[in-house]
Amino acid sequence: MARFPKPPEGSWTQHYPELGTAPVSYEDSIDPAFYEKERHAIFKRAWLNVGRVEQVPRKGSYFTKELKVANTSIIVVRTTSGEIKAFHNICRHHGNKLVWNDMPLEETSGVCRQFTCKYHAWRYDLDGNLTFVQQEGEFFDLDKSRYGLVAVHCEVWEGFIFVNFAKQPEQSLREFLGPMITDLEGYPFDKMTSRFTYRSEVKANWKLYMDAFQEFYHAPVLHANQSPTAYSKAAAEAGFEAPHYRIEGPHRLVSTSGVRAWEMADEMRKPIEDICRSGLFGPWDKPDLGEMPVGLNPAKCDPWGLDSFQLFPNFVLLFWGQGWYITYHYWPTSHNTHIFEGSAYFPQPRTPRERIAQELAAVSFKEYGLQDANTLEATQSMIESQVLDEFLLCDQEVLIRHLHKETAAWVEDYDRKKAGV
Ligand code: FES
Ligand SMILES: [Fe+2]
Repeated sequence: MARFPKPPEGSWTQHYPELGTAPVSYEDSIDPAFYEKERHAIFKRAWLNVGRVEQVPRKGSYFTKELKVANTSIIVVRTTSGEIKAFHNICRHHGNKLVWNDMPLEETSGVCRQFTCKYHAWRYDLDGNLTFVQQEGEFFDLDKSRYGLVAVHCEVWEGFIFVNFAKQPEQSLREFLGPMITDLEGYPFDKMTSRFTYRSEVKANWKLYMDAFQEFYHAPVLHANQSPTAYSKAAAEAGFEAPHYRIEGPHRLVSTSGVRAWEMADEMRKPIEDICRSGLFGPWDKPDLGEMPVGLNPAKCDPWGLDSFQLFPNFVLLFWGQGWYITYHYWPTSHNTHIFEGSAYFPQPRTPRERIAQELAAVSFKEYGLQDANTLEATQSMIESQVLDEFLLCDQEVLIRHLHKETAAWVEDYDRKKAGV
């Protein structure tokens, strides 16, 4: 259902008639029973991004990922042949968690030649084969070749490692991503190795934080104090509207125009921005990243601010016009809690000045993220009151409509298939 550019008349929402314009319920964000369904219908069926190839740079590099939403922990490893594989993090002997450090429930990473269980020292090679059993002769007809680690479907796209917990995924990763996302191929992800990450536990449903980053209606209001007063006042009065929205399959895109901060009047900038030549939009001195892929800046904004691609279910790829990108992950831990991970990626800085410009962009992003997160508990707690059961969404919030509708569609589809209809 791709429709762009913006229609000359009518609203974005009217051009996606299947979404309707009626008020919506957020029952899907407060109901523990619905969350249980989401876990099976969505998180055990969709492709989930768990990291990037740079996290497993050489043979034997691995990391673990705790995925409470799928009720498991996984190991992602680069095998001897250089392939990337994923396994459930469980020993075939007594079921001990195979890879962990001091704290069994915390994620870890490293490099090894094989995995050795801490309990009775069974060993597995990097391809997951069981290679050593302590006092093997004591077992009964043990055929080691039948007791390798349990594999998880794992595919890589543009260096992003995805897993799928379905017995047999319904689509390949590329099919699942679809053309709107695969049109990003060619972006120099592999060169963007200067990485800043944040992680936080949020007391709100995972979809509510996604919603906070898929509309900019809130920006001039919620982030008013982030900018010098003259700028904030002007922005709040003007309001904001993104020039482009697009919905395709389960995924969404919003694109916005940007600013040339260095050309703005002095009172519009903060002193630190002048000193560091950077700010929320990124370093003012834009790195040369070569030609951008066709999928970026679809409205041809000049200056272009950002494109935020919301990949179903819980992964966001946000590209800044100034030559850097951000990822968000929202990992549900219950119907009203989740873990948020935000990472900013830049090319390797060549000078201290470039490094400082990246740091200012990364901390500005964190500051905005904190402001966005700040309303989440306030919203979650009051939606849970159930005093109101329907809420209004404006045209700029069309992507929120889509996320909640898509979530419901996956749950309905799962229910239907389970019932055999
Ligand atoms: S549980 Fe792993 S070796 Fe016994
Ligand atoms: Fe925001």
